[in-house]
Amino acid sequence: MTKIDVLLGLQWGDEGKGKIVDVLTPEYDVIARFQGGPNAGHTLEFNGTKHVLHIIPSGIFHKEKINLIGNGVLIEPRIFRQEIEALTEKGVDATLNLFISKKAHLILPSHRLMDAANEQAKGNAKIGSTLKGIGPAYTDKIARTGIRVGDILAPDFIERYAALKRQHLMMARAMDFDVDAFRIDNLSLADYEKIWMESLATLKRFRFVNSEYFINQCLRDNKKVLAEGAQAMMLDIDFGTYPFVTSSNTITAGVCTGLGIAPSAVGRVFGITKAYCTRVGAGPFPTELFDETGKRLCELGHEYGATTGRPRRCGWIDLPALRYACMINGVTDLFVTKPDVMNDFDTVNMCTHYEINGERTDEIPFEYNTADIRPLLTPFPGWKQDLNGITDYAKLPEKLRSYLDTIEQQTGVRIAAVSISPDRKDVLFK
Ligand code: GDP
Ligand code: IMO
Ligand code: MG
Repeated sequence: MTKIDVLLGLQWGDEGKGKIVDVLTPEYDVIARFQGGPNAGHTLEFNGTKHVLHIIPSGIFHKEKINLIGNGVLIEPRIFRQEIEALTEKGVDATLNLFISKKAHLILPSHRLMDAANEQAKGNAKIGSTLKGIGPAYTDKIARTGIRVGDILAPDFIERYAALKRQHLMMARAMDFDVDAFRIDNLSLADYEKIWMESLATLKRFRFVNSEYFINQCLRDNKKVLAEGAQAMMLDIDFGTYPFVTSSNTITAGVCTGLGIAPSAVGRVFGITKAYCTRVGAGPFPTELFDETGKRLCELGHEYGATTGRPRRCGWIDLPALRYACMINGVTDLFVTKPDVMNDFDTVNMCTHYEINGERTDEIPFEYNTADIRPLLTPFPGWKQDLNGITDYAKLPEKLRSYLDTIEQQTGVRIAAVSISPDRKDVLFK
């Protein structure tokens, strides 16, 4: 019996998870998503083309590999159909190697309405949700009122759909939300619902499985399985910067509930971090830069959301947060992405500790959102060198290696590889 390896983000998302999954896929037989949904945007680049995936695992471009959408994932049928159509245009027939858990929950159009209603009700305290319906759909899952993929085939599907939608409309109206003015992709709720319903036909073309049996059988058959995380540690519903988080467990523990595997079946844990840090949406971000350097990181790193197009907030790498992430997730291997973005920087800073009320600390405090956190920065001289064309970790500029060595020492986790461009080919294993 093999173990399941896990790959996840250690910051606030967009660390380059999709790219690293794509690079590691040749070593695996199965790639499985275990949480999140269309709030994710995972970018893959190869042969000069860029691909963005939201719900579909990042192993889909390898047609001999099985891709699984686990029970912990949320599926929005219209977005799923758009993703399938984009793949078809690129010559990828996902029906051949994509399997879907019958227990994965559906995002209804009215979940998206509720997402907007909830954000409106929060006024100045908005989370900055991607508005894909994630929070409301997970809310219904926990409230035991959700509808699952397997339910599409049930005779009472339409009645259950209508009942749930009715409930959402009642709630939205009670919150003074203007249901009639609400639009998704410039469509009214009724028009969007029509397309959503039609999109179920696309979903039905795929194999619905009891994914907990499916995945455990894969492990018993000694198949190599990689679990692909979405969002990231600091957006975890329990350990992230609550309430500025997503609504799922993004951490290693989420793999057990999101796929139905035992904790003892978890093998290696690959943690992905940028060489700096970004965040999209609201919430605390102690190392955020509001100056020209922050703008440079955003521009040079093309830091615009893969799902919403919003500019990402940028700042220095945050070691207290990274150490926290390594602890909670049991990270065995670090992957550092995007140091190339800082090639021209004279100085690269690293936050090693925080100072809160005059006291130096290494911990993420409960009061993270409200405390006055001063990041204690250690400056590193920039490497001032184009990394383009380097194919060997040992050939990276010495100053960059020293920066990376410090990340290793400070987290106590070995760096497995560094990524130096968006392209599949530019990952240097140590
Ligand atoms: P994910 O959500 O973690 O999969 O990450 P995203 O795809 O949302 O964002 C990562 C962005 O950085 C994408 O545009 C990638 O193409 C890009 N990227 C990934 N690795 C590197 C890297 O090493 N260098 C540079 N310059 N870009 C990278
Ligand atoms: P990937 O997988 C970055 C953020 C949103 C918002 C908060 C809650 O591409 O790394 P939600 O729609 O889940 O209710 O939004 O979480 N967020 C992400 N930020 N990358 C993501 O996914 C994200 N998914 C959600 O911006 O602040
Ligand atoms: Mg992303």
